[in-house]
Amino acid sequence: MTDLQEHFQRTLDRDQRLEPRDWVPDGYRKTMIRQIAQHAHSEIIGMQPEGNWITRAPSLRRKAILLAKVQDEAGHGLYLYSAAETLGAERAELTEKLIDGKQKYSSIFNYPTLNFADVGVIGWLVDGAAICNQVPLCRCSYGPYARAMIRICKEESFHQRQGYELLMTMMRGTDAQRRMVQDATDRWWWPSLMMFGPPDGDSPNTEQSMAWKIKRHTNDELRQRFVDMSVPQAEALGATLPDPSLCWNAERGHYDFGEIDWSEFKQVVRGNGPCNAQRVAHRRAAHDNGAWVREAALAHAAKHSAREEAAA
Ligand code: 3HC
Repeated sequence: MTDLQEHFQRTLDRDQRLEPRDWVPDGYRKTMIRQIAQHAHSEIIGMQPEGNWITRAPSLRRKAILLAKVQDEAGHGLYLYSAAETLGAERAELTEKLIDGKQKYSSIFNYPTLNFADVGVIGWLVDGAAICNQVPLCRCSYGPYARAMIRICKEESFHQRQGYELLMTMMRGTDAQRRMVQDATDRWWWPSLMMFGPPDGDSPNTEQSMAWKIKRHTNDELRQRFVDMSVPQAEALGATLPDPSLCWNAERGHYDFGEIDWSEFKQVVRGNGPCNAQRVAHRRAAHDNGAWVREAALAHAAKHSAREEAAA
């Protein structure tokens, strides 16, 4: 083992963080760029489902909260693209890969938001699942990613709280509003469980990611943690989770839950979900419409540096 490899392994063994200046194996760099880029893509695409409802929020307060949340997601995407750049990735290239379908984003964002109860359920379940998945990533072995997660997790807590409070308000409203909350819960529960990835036995990346301390828990462990957290929240809300198999298993100390439809998950990841084409087309259009801003910024930067060179 070379000195560099020893330093890499010693850093992992000591639960310390690797920094951009540190040597890392090509495979580590590759999987970190893969995960961080797809995480960033998810944040940016994730702005669409809720962004859809900003102009139709039921009150100025709800509009302000939703605006803040969607803006946060944009910021999360930018932190994460910056973290990917410290590994040598090019942001423009990552965006092209997203738009060309060569890199993934989270399956959850390919489902439609049918009414404002969806905004609440996304905060409660989708951001709740994100918190379960992202808190352990604050201890990821790659420093820039772990530090981005610490900032992001603080904002995710606000996202989850505002969604749950929105639903609590609706549950104290009319029968129609209570039905909207239950309908949205029925539609978002199972796709939220899929966010954690395939079962551990079908996950090609988990074993290596655990060895490299990128992942600190497996997909199934985090999924179980999310189920255990969500059941009492649903009870407090007065909503019923759409899984007749859900029941407390005292022996395991966890909730047992039903079979996830992995064929649906595979279809959505393959691009055949309800909104995949719309989400990617929207991202492509935004990218194309923003070309003039990128060109102007580059022209300004070139002019500025030419002026500096002339003055030097
Ligand atoms: N949607 C789309 N693709 C998924 C997926 C999902 N929910 N779950 C897994 N996959 C893909 C993986 O990317 C991998 O494909 P690849 O090798 O081509 O990248 C394949 O399915 C096998 O899955 P693995 O479990 O082996 O892959 P990972 O070890 O990368 O685990 C993960 C998947 C748990 C999502 C992990 O990548 C991760 O923790 N990523 C960081 C968190 C993240 O990306 N969250 C997405 C949501 S962001 C969000 O929620 C924002 C919030 O504000 C709402």
